[in-house]
Amino acid sequence: MRVIGLMSGTSFDAIEAAAADLTLDGDSLLLRPVGHLSAPYPDDVRGLIATTLPPAVTTTQSVCALDTGIGQAFADTAARALRELCEGTADLVVSHGQTMHHWVEDGRVRGTLQLGQPAWIAEATGLPVVSDLRSRDVAAGGQGAPLVAMTDTLLLSALPGNPAALNLGGIANVTVLASGAEPLAFDTGPANALLDAAVQHFTRGAAAYDEGGRRAAVGRVSPELLRVLLDDPYYRRDAPKTTGKERFHLPYLQRALDAVPVPATDDVLATLTRLTAVTVADACRAHGVTQLVVSGGGTRNPVLMRMIAEELPGVPLRLSDALGLPSDAKEALAFAVLGFLTVHGLPGAFPSGTGARRAALLGSITPGVSPLRLPEPAARPPRLLRITR
Ligand SMILES: Nc1ncnc2c1ncn2[C@@H]1O[C@H](COP(=O)(O)OP(=O)(O)O)[C@@H](O)[C@H]1O
Ligand SMILES: [Mg+2]
Repeated sequence: MRVIGLMSGTSFDAIEAAAADLTLDGDSLLLRPVGHLSAPYPDDVRGLIATTLPPAVTTTQSVCALDTGIGQAFADTAARALRELCEGTADLVVSHGQTMHHWVEDGRVRGTLQLGQPAWIAEATGLPVVSDLRSRDVAAGGQGAPLVAMTDTLLLSALPGNPAALNLGGIANVTVLASGAEPLAFDTGPANALLDAAVQHFTRGAAAYDEGGRRAAVGRVSPELLRVLLDDPYYRRDAPKTTGKERFHLPYLQRALDAVPVPATDDVLATLTRLTAVTVADACRAHGVTQLVVSGGGTRNPVLMRMIAEELPGVPLRLSDALGLPSDAKEALAFAVLGFLTVHGLPGAFPSGTGARRAALLGSITPGVSPLRLPEPAARPPRLLRITR
């Protein structure tokens, strides 16, 4: 089955589309990457997302405009992927949508809202669409995240020791496969969220992120600021736990800066980069991680990658590309896998990953132009993900 996965993370920098041929083969799920592309949001949609995200207040009219604008942007990207990557032929689109709110109270997820009306995608491609994958896990008592845990677990199963997958998006999340324990997945804290917020603030919007980590590279870590930032109780909480930009946003950083003698801008950026490295490393150490497979936009920041390596001596770091999953496309491919599991009647999350009471079938399905025909339910879930060519 050819599946197109669509993803935009908390950084809302671009919509990633990735196509793959997926086949169940006994215990294995075979994944052949077909190609991927990245499409920036139209300026007006991106602007509306930026002015609507917490801590902003909004109106239902804006929510409607966002649901439509994001849905149309995803639809354009899906149509492009169908044309440019798949020569016009695919079976299914899976859309993550754009997270606008991940509602966490006392460590429990009460709701999660991904916008991007799937009707636009179905209309633009003629294909059935699986969307809203997180809500069902939340309804089953889970965090609704990190949903890449299923794909990560199937992928890491072939590796020795205690491997972990780390994604460095706006938020950093890990999936850990420690021997003798159930697979575990959680958000470690911010990856780029605070760093991007600081860059955008200090450059008055001229830069979106610290390209190549150049500014952090010439800055010096402020021990006082790092101490204040590390004092957040989120880092001490046990998994399962998830977070988002509802917590790690510019006012959060400004409160921390108010508590210390204000460092120079490059020092702030160096400190925030170190914060990500320290919190990722603490999380990995707590679970005995012996090797790390890394993906996400943060892998393009060599200063961040170096700091993570420094904080985890003896733990080899490599990009997911080394296992056959391009680090830019890994999350979009992971969502393609989730939609594939859904239409085969297989759960896309598991209790030790999200904290849900049970492994639920995820998502909502929007029919394409033809009547909806689902494959025969699979007899059993796969235990291994094999990347093929
Ligand atoms: N060349 C680069 N140098 C430094 N950081 C980068 C670079 N490219 C991307 N990033 C970081 O990665 C982020 C986007 O990563 P991504 O995985 O798309 O996150 P998300 O899933 O939250 O959208 C950017 O906001 C930026 O912080
Ligand atoms: Mg992104």
